Amino acid sequence: MKVSSGHWYAVLSSRELSQRPVGTTRFGDRLVFWRDGDGKAVCFDDRCPHRGAALSQGRLRDGTLACPYHGFRYDASGRCVEVPAEGTWHIPEHFRAVTRHVEEKHDFVWLWRGPEIAAEELPPVPQFPVPGGTIYGEYIQHWPTHYTRCIEGVIDHSHLPFVHRKSLGIFIRNPLTRIKVDPFDGGFRSNMLRDDRVMHHVDFVYPNVWIQNLSDRWTMSATFAPIDDTTTAVYNRWHHKIRVPLLRSLVNLWGRFSVFLVFHEDMAILATQRPANTDAATADKLVPSDAAQVEFRKMRGQYQKEFEDVAKQMVSTDRPRSASKAG
Ligand code: FES
Ligand SMILES: [Fe+2]
Repeated sequence: MKVSSGHWYAVLSSRELSQRPVGTTRFGDRLVFWRDGDGKAVCFDDRCPHRGAALSQGRLRDGTLACPYHGFRYDASGRCVEVPAEGTWHIPEHFRAVTRHVEEKHDFVWLWRGPEIAAEELPPVPQFPVPGGTIYGEYIQHWPTHYTRCIEGVIDHSHLPFVHRKSLGIFIRNPLTRIKVDPFDGGFRSNMLRDDRVMHHVDFVYPNVWIQNLSDRWTMSATFAPIDDTTTAVYNRWHHKIRVPLLRSLVNLWGRFSVFLVFHEDMAILATQRPANTDAATADKLVPSDAAQVEFRKMRGQYQKEFEDVAKQMVSTDRPRSASKAG
């Protein structure tokens, strides 16, 4: 069975997941994230199998998640381990919360989207290539569009003198844009050239991470967690090596301010794009300076085709578990 058609998506910052369950929507589904007794991240559909209450309103107890309605408790595997009103009653095996595959790495919780396969068969989560030894500050925003438009927006160079004419693009006098795309394993680098020299570059790691390495001490990243078809949670991070507390606070202030300023300019435009999902944007008339967007759409199309092939294969071999849409 080929499994590359599925993907891990970074969907939650590790900093958001502490001692309480976190209820949130990803890919249009209500989910609850929590940590078991070993601190391992767990994800369920945010619905108690008893009578449908939101488990995210419940409490963590002895490494289990307790529903707020009648106190049924679920362990990390989703199994119901206590039904308080029934005492020592034997709990049927099918009393289970719906579990999702999650992994925690690079200070993100990653959610698997794709064929429903055993945990041991899953591929590793994507790389997150920021310089070693850096720490980061973080600012979370909600952008009012589909995550594909968000990603195409941050790998775009030719919008700088227009959308950011009062900020980043203030000194760009010449809008002429030449792009060179260099694919790498799991993503690509988009280089902006001037007179054949690389002026700057950004990296995209499939499926939802953008990274701009400015030096070996300073990197920006933005990770696009799909909430639903028209909203995306964006995890902006600035990675650096400044450990002096006062300086670090100043850097964090600067980070929040600059991200707020620059990305609000982007958001205002991205929210107007129709259709919101680039998968449906077949009428877009792309030009050579859209080379990064072309590469993004190509990768997406290729992965989606692979996904459909695997889904068909699963139906024809009558596998018992279904597949969730890859993206
Ligand atoms: S709805 Fe959750 S215990 Fe009853
Ligand atoms: Fe922008």
